[in-house]
Amino acid sequence: MPTGRRELCERVWEAHVTLESRYARSEELYRRAMQSIPQGTHSSSRKDTPHPIYFRRGEGAWIWDLDGNRLVDCVLGNGALVFGHASPIVREAVEEAMEAGLESGLETELSVEVSELFLCLVPTADQVRFATTGTEAVMHAIHMARAATGRSDVAKIEAAYHGWYDLVFVSTWPDLAKAGAPERPASLPGAGGLNPAAVGSTLVIPFNDAAAAVRLLEANAGRLAAVLVEPVLIDVGYIPPEPGYLEALREATDRLGIVLVFDELLTGFRIAVGGGQERYGVRPDLSIWGKALAGGQILSAVAGRRDLMAQSAGPAGFVGTFNGHQWSLSAARASLTALGDGSLVRQLEDGICYLATRFDDAARRVGVEARFHGGGGHFQCYFTAEPVRDYRSAARADARRYACFRAAMLDRGVLLAPGYTGHSAISTAHGPDALEVIADAMSAALGEVAAQGN
Ligand SMILES: Cc1ncc(COP(=O)(O)O)c(C=O)c1O
Repeated sequence: MPTGRRELCERVWEAHVTLESRYARSEELYRRAMQSIPQGTHSSSRKDTPHPIYFRRGEGAWIWDLDGNRLVDCVLGNGALVFGHASPIVREAVEEAMEAGLESGLETELSVEVSELFLCLVPTADQVRFATTGTEAVMHAIHMARAATGRSDVAKIEAAYHGWYDLVFVSTWPDLAKAGAPERPASLPGAGGLNPAAVGSTLVIPFNDAAAAVRLLEANAGRLAAVLVEPVLIDVGYIPPEPGYLEALREATDRLGIVLVFDELLTGFRIAVGGGQERYGVRPDLSIWGKALAGGQILSAVAGRRDLMAQSAGPAGFVGTFNGHQWSLSAARASLTALGDGSLVRQLEDGICYLATRFDDAARRVGVEARFHGGGGHFQCYFTAEPVRDYRSAARADARRYACFRAAMLDRGVLLAPGYTGHSAISTAHGPDALEVIADAMSAALGEVAAQGN
């Protein structure tokens, strides 16, 4: 999110939470945490102002914080917890694996079985290999693409988040004032401490502007090993590809000999069982999976064309102490089995449709210009009259209104993503009761946004 907007958002939120005494224990623990943990959290994305809320337990759609507040969780491990908290699907699978007594560093029948199950659900891929985090899987895919093409650099879509690797933590939620021309976005570091040479080498292409994206790929083809694409831009909320965009990238990368990599961490097993590639009918050369793959347990995957995957058995290599951890693989077997017939994917879609209808009705009733975007259980509410079709239109939405909306939602027991260009989610455990709490809270929160005026 652009820096100025983020600060504004944080000030509105801070003013709200400071007024509340409902989070006194979290505030106290935060002061203690700050002594031993930078920012008081183990991921900067969990930082919140004036302090994060600390939690005690979770069950299904619900989480309980230290002060005893019960909230509907719509953050859900950054979209990883597709079955919600403490799901019996995942818990029983992990317990079963624990009883077998094997953890990491060994191959088992389970390692093969889960690979076969994965390939049944993702028929666009010939082979698969499991790692731990999405960041690592992205790194592996880039190494395979480099080994196959003999080229070194990558292209990515403006604002798409693919993890923390120097080459791809580039122009993630960039400051619009520094982002350059829309048809030729600047390559900006996503944080300090990255290798400037790596950041500078990464080409940033616009989302949903096929002509401009293809022009940039053509001009840089000689140095590009891979193009990374999140088929729906979910780390910016929920922005689907316009007809023809993914197809144009497929045609250009085929023609230019560039490896097309889909990042399906958030789309996979959610917008369709086989992810964005199934939903939009565009077959990438490689793809990255995680999050829902193991029902939120620690597992990622690289999958794709046999000749490219073969690079990981030769020049590119593929190693990791915890790769294919047995507890996570057991959770993956149970998750893929549960998600495989598509009924839970449809349930998530129905939940999002219900929330969209309720949001749109309420926004119309109170006269607030806002747009609900969602799919696969992910959603975002953009406070803007402008169509949201890329990062820039999302970033022009009203950060202050989102902060007011989020604060009003929290007052009514619903936890949303902190950023107005972030994403929230529901899980398969968000049944009618939780959806009703969210929808009623949205109606009331929109009323508060309207009351605040412009
Ligand atoms: C689309 C996408 N790709 C990659 C990543 C990085 O995954 P991880 O946090 O497991 O390294 C994320 C994480 O949020 C993501 O949303």
